[in-house]
Amino acid sequence: MERLQKVMAKAGVASRRKSEELITAGRVKVNGKVVTELGSKVDPSQDQIEVDGKRIQEENLVYILLNKPQGYVTTADDPHGRRTVLDLIKVKQRVYPVGRLDYDTEGLLLLTNDGDVTYALTHPSHQITKKYIATVEGVPNQGNLKALERGIKLADGWTAPAKVEVVVDFNDKAILSLEIHEGRKHQVKRMCKAVGHPVQELKRIKMGPLELDDDLKLGEYRYLRKNEVKQLRDIAQKVKGNE
Ligand code: URA
Repeated sequence: MERLQKVMAKAGVASRRKSEELITAGRVKVNGKVVTELGSKVDPSQDQIEVDGKRIQEENLVYILLNKPQGYVTTADDPHGRRTVLDLIKVKQRVYPVGRLDYDTEGLLLLTNDGDVTYALTHPSHQITKKYIATVEGVPNQGNLKALERGIKLADGWTAPAKVEVVVDFNDKAILSLEIHEGRKHQVKRMCKAVGHPVQELKRIKMGPLELDDDLKLGEYRYLRKNEVKQLRDIAQKVKGNE
């Protein structure tokens, strides 16, 4: 535990003296509560500290966009000993995948140690848009496409409206793009199977404001750009404001 003003100064908010002024002026919150006492101690790795509503970052927040290859699980540990996406990431901070992709699904996966962003992007009540490219068996007809768009009944209920297009028609198979707003387990695979067109290959190319770059190879990752982080933080802030 450390004194609040010391943690603030270390995080670069202001000098220690100026930080004390901010505290006594009631501009600093710890875990959502205004703290005005100068003797207060905090644990910077646990406590959430905000100055004028903006969170200070003691530990470096990192945001990584990975082009996940097939053959990796998106959980931190796998009971079957399979490789995890964390095996591909070499950063000193401990990061976590935001949401999941199946073992055999490729594409955009965000990893971060920012709990607010993870929460905002994965909570079922404010799911963001995700775009997938799926290679499916056969070519869905207009009726199937409409059904996928309107919503179909899966074992766990109706799917929300989606946007679905045939990108390439190969006669015996097709490449579809699907934009969905939910994140149920195996959702795209289950949707396509339900209309008689099982998925052969699946790749995620968009999630909220993030897009997979063409030049990011499978298994490679990059740090998010400043404007991308800002957009994610704005989403997290909005979610917080609504709760
Ligand atoms: N839908 C699926 O079926 N699998 C994924 O990995 C992601 C979405």
